[in-house]
Amino acid sequence: MRIHVVAAHPWEVAADALAFPVLEGSTLDGELAALDQHLDGALSRLRDFGELAGRLGATTLFPTELPCGYLLGVGLGEPIDDDPRIAAHRFGAQAIRRMAGRTVHRLALVLAGDPVVSAELTSRGVVEGDYDPGTRYRGSDLEEPPAVIDELTLVAAPDADVAAIEAAAERGRIVGEGANVARDLANRAANDLNPTGLADEASALASKHGLTVEVLGPDDAERLGMGLFLAVGRGSDNPPRLIVLRSGEAGGDGRYLALVGKGVTFDSGGISIKQADRMSEMKMDKTGAATVIAAIATAARLRPGLPLLAVAPAVENMPGPHSTRPGDVVRAMNGKVVEIDNTDAEGRLILGDALVYAESVGATHLVDVATLTGASERILGKAMTPAFGTPQAWYDEVARAGRRVAERYWQMPLIEEYLHDMETAQAELSNSGPPEGSFVKSGLFLRQFVTRPWVHLDIGGSGYYRRPTPWAAAGASGEAHATLVELALSGH
Ligand code: BES
Ligand code: MN
Ligand code: ZN
Repeated sequence: MRIHVVAAHPWEVAADALAFPVLEGSTLDGELAALDQHLDGALSRLRDFGELAGRLGATTLFPTELPCGYLLGVGLGEPIDDDPRIAAHRFGAQAIRRMAGRTVHRLALVLAGDPVVSAELTSRGVVEGDYDPGTRYRGSDLEEPPAVIDELTLVAAPDADVAAIEAAAERGRIVGEGANVARDLANRAANDLNPTGLADEASALASKHGLTVEVLGPDDAERLGMGLFLAVGRGSDNPPRLIVLRSGEAGGDGRYLALVGKGVTFDSGGISIKQADRMSEMKMDKTGAATVIAAIATAARLRPGLPLLAVAPAVENMPGPHSTRPGDVVRAMNGKVVEIDNTDAEGRLILGDALVYAESVGATHLVDVATLTGASERILGKAMTPAFGTPQAWYDEVARAGRRVAERYWQMPLIEEYLHDMETAQAELSNSGPPEGSFVKSGLFLRQFVTRPWVHLDIGGSGYYRRPTPWAAAGASGEAHATLVELALSGH
């Protein structure tokens, strides 16, 4: 897909289809009013008819005699948080999804608002919106396969800075491609991607994008004293892997950021086995790992040599004769003694050791991403990610990076006094314990394994869609990938 930017009026653009954004409650003004005139009032008539009202997810597609071919009005609803960025991203994604199964090779999109900001988010939206997990196993045998676009034209006002908009659009494309890499790994069936398979995929990405990779197995983990990480993988025939990717050189006096991602390739719950209902969703429990693996590759594409670390503990959580039992006591890499009361609270175990590992190899700042709890979805649904972090300045920096790339976080409190509740007779820390405030306790647990600025993003809700939305296929959403890339790039 070639991307080019034209500073022109919509009615001058040659394409197979041209999409324009429609906000709910907006009027036909500016370029749209002028376009309406070129269409002899067709837009106004559609409006009077009840179309083009801007309802979120609604689209209006109609043929014209203009060089742009079909016109597509894309409903974006009300502006969110007074911030046009989420709408800019959804605009690209909704437009391309509406084109699935259609014969469109040249797609044009009318940029709204600040064209540099919206170009990055809209082109990223196009790339992400065109992703369909159905193609991995079914090829193009889909009712409406993703559109194949040769030429994407972004239409900006006649006085716009074309070069700056083009650069932003290219960056958006690369970030979108990275999000799709993460989604494609996350969506893989658990029989198709086990911890070793994930490590192989990480290695392939490493050679493609100039990263170094190190893959540790159970013997290495044993030597390092990673008793929490090892406890989770025991029940499976597929051995655990600690995947470590590096870009650039560590050891300068600057920030050395570590991205740590939960990689449970399947979470049956282990001996504390889950109910059958929706257990198949737990192939998605590797989404955090997929996200950090893709994010370090994307960051390296955008800024080769940038110092950055990604750590992805990968395990399969299964019941079996070698499984960890509820009540087992293990020792973490930082020496903490942990009682495993519930083998289904496994994410915090593997992340605990992975965070300690990341600090042991020099990380000065940490962000972890995990489908850690079912509670995250019950609390906030899919549109926002609940997050913890300390100190506040570091949390704020991560949340601000998220805001710049249209990803939203909501800070949850680390209520330190609940830590007493997590002590047991024999261990400093239980991995589950009394359920009051259990979501806070998931953050507090991880907190025991970091000494540096740290943020935890729980994508248990936002990480994947159960049903398709107007802007995304069902399956992994790619959430947090763009935040991590933005954060990595902004510190240097
Ligand atoms: N991977 C799950 C969390 C999850 C569940 C994410 C459903 C997305 C959808 C995690 O390992 C888990 O099982 N968490 C338990 C923790 C509890 C046992 C303390 C949970 O959330 O129920
Ligand atoms: Mn679990
Ligand atoms: Zn899990």
